[in-house]
Amino acid sequence: MNKVDYLRISLIDRCNFRCQYCMPEGAELEYIWQQQLLTHAEILNLLKEVFIPLGFTRFRLTGGEPLLRPGVVDLVGDIAALPETEDLAMTTNGFLLASLAQDLYDAGLRRINISLDSLDPETFDKIIRNRGRSRWERTWEGIQAAYQVGFDPLKLNVVVIPGVNDSEVLDLAALTIDRQWHVRFIEFMPIGNMQLFDDCAARTQRGRAWIPSSELREWIGDRWGLISTVPEKSEVRGNGPADVFQIPGAKGTIGFISQMSECFCDRCNRMRLSADGWLRPCLLNETGQIDLKTGLRQGVDTAELRERVSQLLRIKPEINYKQRDSGTTGSYGRTMSQIGG
Ligand code: GTP
Ligand code: 5AD
Ligand code: SF4
Repeated sequence: MNKVDYLRISLIDRCNFRCQYCMPEGAELEYIWQQQLLTHAEILNLLKEVFIPLGFTRFRLTGGEPLLRPGVVDLVGDIAALPETEDLAMTTNGFLLASLAQDLYDAGLRRINISLDSLDPETFDKIIRNRGRSRWERTWEGIQAAYQVGFDPLKLNVVVIPGVNDSEVLDLAALTIDRQWHVRFIEFMPIGNMQLFDDCAARTQRGRAWIPSSELREWIGDRWGLISTVPEKSEVRGNGPADVFQIPGAKGTIGFISQMSECFCDRCNRMRLSADGWLRPCLLNETGQIDLKTGLRQGVDTAELRERVSQLLRIKPEINYKQRDSGTTGSYGRTMSQIGG
């Protein structure tokens, strides 16, 4: 059985972007109340008393947008300082990074994944549903700042949406040639915003809202060649499901996250803790969730909470999402922005 030692911790469900693929229209109206968020002390307590004793050593901070969480730098510092923490990373939209990158690094964060779906400010603003002054430039500055501060590996996540940003795949792949940036193309999943997924599928010739990674690999391979040189166990590969390749001679790498065309659930190594304290064993399946926050606040002993999580770990392989040819099915009570990707 796969070792499950990677916990994705959502710090807040709010976001300063409203990416079309992640949130349906109006999702921001359902934000979690401040009092319902796990506190700094509760997160640390759960890590020390529940997750670390069960073998979790790799943590990723997500959102919504994790940098909107008050006190995020201190929390990074406290998690990084836990002797059992082997890996601490963050997934962010980068908009607030220019001013926070150095503090985060100094607090002990070393790895960062930043969403960047387009190099064209107009397309970018359309994707994030921004109608005001363009937000592309500040996001780009955030990426540059993270690079200069020394985050390594620095990964850029691109959700490829046919008819929206697929024409930019080669330009985005080219970012890896001269810079040690690691670009990952993600197949668009029917979670977060089903309306967009269905509309997008209806517009394409093949009736599919996602482009298989194998096709993207061909596009990039035809232009520059694409090789598989990155060792199996390496920081660049990380803990996630990406398959990693490289343009010959490039400084960075190109990853593909192919949850629609392949099923990587058999090697699933992770669970997700939501900002309001629900532990979710699978991204695409709501079965088995545990409300750890209510347990904590009702004074349930942490040994008992640990036992509940341990039981969930035992049944996780049965819960793990098994993908069918048609892709994912079912409906989700939470949007992607609430789960944290
Ligand atoms: P690394 O340690 O750097 O490999 O991180 P990661 O790829 O696990 O983290 P990131 O937050 O950058 O994840 C990128 C995207 O991969 C997510 O937003 C999802 O779209 C997808 N993804 C990550 N984990 C899972 C998973 O367990 N199941 C599925 N279906 N998709 C996932
Ligand atoms: N399909 C694929 N990836 C998604 N993300 C959000 N919504 C989707 C979706 N529907 C990913 C983005 C972002 C991360 C937080 O979640 O890659 O980087
Ligand atoms: Fe794990 Fe569920 Fe993601 Fe599959 S879909 S890799 S089981 S979290």
